[in-house]
Amino acid sequence: MALRERIEVKYSPMLKIGNTLFSTPCLLAPMAGISDLPFRMINRAFGCEFAFVEMVSARALVYGNKNTREMLSTVPADRPLGIQLLGDDPRVLREALDILRDYRFDILDLNAACPVGKVTGRGEGAGLLKDPRKTGELLRVLVDNSPVPVTVKIRAGWDESSRNATEIARAARDAGVSGLFIHGRTREQGYSGRVDYRIIREVKEALDIPVIASGDAFSPHLVKRMLDETGCDGVAIARGALGNPWIFRETREFLRSGITPQRPGPDEIADTMTRHLDLCIDFYGETVGVMIFRKFFSWYTRGLPAMKPLRGQAFLAKTREQLLAVAGAMRLARDSVPCHGAFAGNPDFYLSMYESF
Ligand SMILES: Cc1cc2nc3c(=O)[nH]c(=O)nc-3n(C[C@H](O)[C@H](O)[C@H](O)COP(=O)(O)O)c2cc1C
Repeated sequence: MALRERIEVKYSPMLKIGNTLFSTPCLLAPMAGISDLPFRMINRAFGCEFAFVEMVSARALVYGNKNTREMLSTVPADRPLGIQLLGDDPRVLREALDILRDYRFDILDLNAACPVGKVTGRGEGAGLLKDPRKTGELLRVLVDNSPVPVTVKIRAGWDESSRNATEIARAARDAGVSGLFIHGRTREQGYSGRVDYRIIREVKEALDIPVIASGDAFSPHLVKRMLDETGCDGVAIARGALGNPWIFRETREFLRSGITPQRPGPDEIADTMTRHLDLCIDFYGETVGVMIFRKFFSWYTRGLPAMKPLRGQAFLAKTREQLLAVAGAMRLARDSVPCHGAFAGNPDFYLSMYESF
């Protein structure tokens, strides 16, 4: 396909959850260990309208865990904002809601998708998929007590023999949720294997509330494919936004015009890395901020052969100055840019990239 070929686009680029209206169907998906304030703000700078804070354990919140409360740090420009709770005990979830009254956010989501063994072993996260009735009851408690609209994030099912997303989705709808997020893989699949568009479509057809789909939305083309093949109302982008906040700007443009947007050039990538690094340093201080930003350096420079040898240096950087010296080489990496620029038009390239996460 020619890189800037025009593709027909035929949907209204709007999404509404509760009373919150978005001018784009693309949201930033929740990512534990990633979705801190600097990450949210760098994505918002490129048109991301909605983001989640990192997933919060209701139990940790209730037991007063200091890190958990720090994870809820935000600023007025960081809105609308979602919070996602992990939990399986109605009493603890209610207590967590009492604590959350001191915080400002716009959507409350219950996680029924996290595949991690120690989480599912406690019956939380994707463990809830095994018990649609209980999931419905927990959601009812949240809907009855939450000051903001409640959503739930589910997976296609627990495993191949139990693809029960539609049953869970109906229980959630009956409990009164205002929207449903679905990652089109089973818990057993984790993050591997292809996303099941068919089950997302089935869930969408069964519900009359917004369905936001997730899985392999690594480029504007893949977002469009998700919208087209599933009929979903919105798409939550996760790994596609790592080192790639432009995905929000590009997808908005692509869905409006059908024209594949230009990828950012080396100067814009270097400027954005600097801006993101500075947000990390403002938030965490220089030592921790540089350490946290290092992983983003790899993501910002993936697909750029000229930058590959510099990743080792970036991992050793301890100060802003050292990291910026490495990031500055980006401006000279002009020969690499066509490769970086190629992935917007090539979904298979993204698919192969994501296998490495
Ligand atoms: C590092 C990482 C952390 C994640 N943390 C969460 C989380 O806390 N809550 C959640 O519902 N999903 C979480 N997810 C899943 C994503 O929100 C998303 O559903 C999944 O990655 C599929 O989308 P993608 O193919 O666009 O990455 C996480 C994914 C990644 C890669």
